[in-house]
Amino acid sequence: MKHYLVTGGAGFIGSNFIQYLFEKYGDDVRVTNLDKLTYAGNLENLKEIEAKSNYKFVAGDICDAAVVDALTADVDIIVNFAAESHVDRSIGKPDDFIKTDIYGAFVLLEAARNNKIEKFIQISTDEVYGSIDKGSFKETDVLEPSSPYSASKAGADRLAFSYFKTYDLPVIISRCSNNYGPYQYPEKLIPLFVTNALDDLELPIYGDGKNVRDWIYVLDHCDAIDFLIERGADGQVYNIGGGNECMNIEITDLILETLKKPSVLKAFVKDRPGHDRRYSVETKKIQTLGWSPKYSFEDAMKFTIEWYQDNRWWWQKLKTGEYLQFYKQNYQKAL
Ligand code: NAD
Ligand code: TYD
Repeated sequence: MKHYLVTGGAGFIGSNFIQYLFEKYGDDVRVTNLDKLTYAGNLENLKEIEAKSNYKFVAGDICDAAVVDALTADVDIIVNFAAESHVDRSIGKPDDFIKTDIYGAFVLLEAARNNKIEKFIQISTDEVYGSIDKGSFKETDVLEPSSPYSASKAGADRLAFSYFKTYDLPVIISRCSNNYGPYQYPEKLIPLFVTNALDDLELPIYGDGKNVRDWIYVLDHCDAIDFLIERGADGQVYNIGGGNECMNIEITDLILETLKKPSVLKAFVKDRPGHDRRYSVETKKIQTLGWSPKYSFEDAMKFTIEWYQDNRWWWQKLKTGEYLQFYKQNYQKAL
């Protein structure tokens, strides 16, 4: 039985990944979830598994070497999701991005080295490449991150690689495109727009709304990580994508149509500084190994929109207090 240390497991993708592991491996897996419970961490994402005897939650910081080292002692696999993850917040206040995304990854890599971990998965992002007008980035392309978020992720990505080269640590780096699905904090495009639309609030579209992202359903991302743990080669980078490139305005229209809400809710606001125009990754490398996404964009988007519609209890209380302060600050620059 494998023992996983999942960091950031109370966040969006981390909590989906933990649920995925229990769904797939049942009693034949052990999971320790280390999460600092920042504004983005939410133990309600894990209600269904919290009582399991093979699951343990630890409230703590990945920058805390004593905590990380103690937890890593009997772990086989580390999957590092823990990060500050929102580009807009990184523009306003980059400090915690540098601390968690870079220094935290360093602490984990050191603990992995000291405790002879079997596999270290660094969850990187397609944003480390920067923007591309035409074509798609390959794993070997140069990294040109544009925001403090993506730059700190690029730092951790390359640091993880250096631990493979220098210390033979069995590291795999994944660079996935934009995820969507249940339990995504309602500051990111899709959950923000769905929950705003449900409340008849404006949907703030940055710039001309023609920026392109490649959308992947979160369980496809989880499945790809599990696949890479089994089949990926140490020291390698793997792009992961959904193959669903859409302009933000198309996502906005889809949400409004699905919820039968009027297009007058669309509000074009001032653009995000340094806003990447288009993300696109070539995914031949992981596909050649035998993995491809399974969920259709149409069905998974419909399911996701319905999930937020049916689970108001989950998101409504998140859109208060500090969230509203951030929201007002971020969107006060309406054109
Ligand atoms: P999220 O913001 O929803 O969750 C991040 C989690 O990390 C939270 O639970 C938070 O409490 C925890 N955390 C933050 N700082 C911590 C610290 N110092 N110590 C321990 N825990 C800490 O993020 P997400 O969208 O689930 O993203 C997870 C990972 O996947 C990130 O590394 C992100 O860069 C990467 N990624 C995200 C996407 C996406 O579309 N969301 C795409 C590609 C890669
Ligand atoms: P986001 O979900 O923040 O992901 P990322 O910037 O990491 O790709 O944003 C996705 C796209 O949606 C991006 O082009 C910015 C845009 N966007 C808006 O137009 N309005 C918003 O309120 C938000 C949060 C994002």
